Amino acid sequence: MSLARASASATTSSSAPPSPTERLFVALDTQDLERAGQLVSALRGTVGGFKIGKELFTAQGPDGVRAAIGGEPLFLDLKFHDIPTTVAGALRSALHLRPRIVNVHASGGPAMLKAAVEAVREAAEDLECERPWLVAVTVLTSLDDADLVAVGQDAPAGRQVLRLARLAQDCGLDGVVCSPREIAPLREACGPGFRLVVPGIRPSWSDSGDQKRVTTPRDAVEAGADVLVVGRPITSADDPAAAARRIAEELA
Ligand code: C5P
Repeated sequence: MSLARASASATTSSSAPPSPTERLFVALDTQDLERAGQLVSALRGTVGGFKIGKELFTAQGPDGVRAAIGGEPLFLDLKFHDIPTTVAGALRSALHLRPRIVNVHASGGPAMLKAAVEAVREAAEDLECERPWLVAVTVLTSLDDADLVAVGQDAPAGRQVLRLARLAQDCGLDGVVCSPREIAPLREACGPGFRLVVPGIRPSWSDSGDQKRVTTPRDAVEAGADVLVVGRPITSADDPAAAARRIAEELA
């Protein structure tokens, strides 16, 4: 996106629009370091960065992440949720990987969210690195209204998403991870500077797989998405770089 430019602009509100390539983050959902490294090599220059989550991180650790990512922009998707001190410490540790995007669960509450914001700001200063976007997960898309009731939350999922997104914004976070169907209401509720990072993306020519509520890359961007997280339509393609270029062309 310069995610760098956009990061700086999270507080100043003007930035050049990101290029189609810069918007695309590829999910490396594998435990296999060699496979992750091959995908990064194949996709370098055709996408904006890579998302690494608990699967690869837990199997390979920070050094594995470094080896796999090879200096490419990183969305470290570890979704921290713990007491404020622990989350702050985890984020300070995470910044040693120089991620462009990190995340926490908004349901950790105001004290945890504010501690996370402060920890990211301080760690970026101490390490003299760019401050990553700190985004929140609101309601996991695997949860429906009945699941929320089961854990004692009576609000319908859509309302809970908005409530948690506003909380994250009030606590100083840069944005949220959201499903395609949440882009428009969140953009309206939280304004133009709030970052929306969106998985569940499927080009019309790809298989939906286990994703139920999908949207095309173009529709997601037109609705207001900042970053698109795309996994299998790229990683399972015979030619991942060609699939990534095709998505970028559709966005151009
Ligand atoms: O392969 P696919 O494009 O479905 O991968 C999407 C990525 O985004 C996966 O890493 C998945 O875990 C993640 N994700 C998601 N839906 C959410 C949050 C994260 O698909 N609500």
